[in-house]
Amino acid sequence: MKIYLQEKIGNPDLFTGRKDELAFLLNWVEGIKGLTSKSRLLLARHKTGKTAILQRLFNIVFDKNDQVIPIYYEVKESKQHVGEFCKDFFLTVIYQYTAFRVDAIRLSR
Ligand SMILES: Nc1ncnc2c1ncn2[C@@H]1O[C@H](COP(=O)(O)OP(=O)(O)O)[C@@H](O)[C@H]1O
Ligand SMILES: [Mg+2]
Repeated sequence: MKIYLQEKIGNPDLFTGRKDELAFLLNWVEGIKGLTSKSRLLLARHKTGKTAILQRLFNIVFDKNDQVIPIYYEVKESKQHVGEFCKDFFLTVIYQYTAFRVDAIRLSR
């Protein structure tokens, strides 16, 4: 699978396991299409793999390019002016949305 969002894990092959969790999340993504999935909160202790699984989920869903558009945004831990946050968030959404649409055109050719 192609990697669209650079994962913090580095080499994508380093990601292991999490098969049940990914199956659950992909089923949740499927439910989004029929509006049956609710919002979800992933809550776990520091350094237990939340970022790793969500970045991998992003790449899988992006690669599928099937109705559900993934957006990945990480809120900075350092202090940030609200204006900067809004601009950064907005641009991230626009970039990822555009990339998804461009990829859809590429796949349809
Ligand atoms: N499924 C996985 N396979 C291999 N390494 C992982 C996996 N999930 C997390 N890691 C590694 O464990 C560390 C903590 O993961 P991270 O996703 O940053 O945790 P969190 O976001 O919950 O703080 C990182 O070094 C990450 O690369
Ligand atoms: Mg994290």
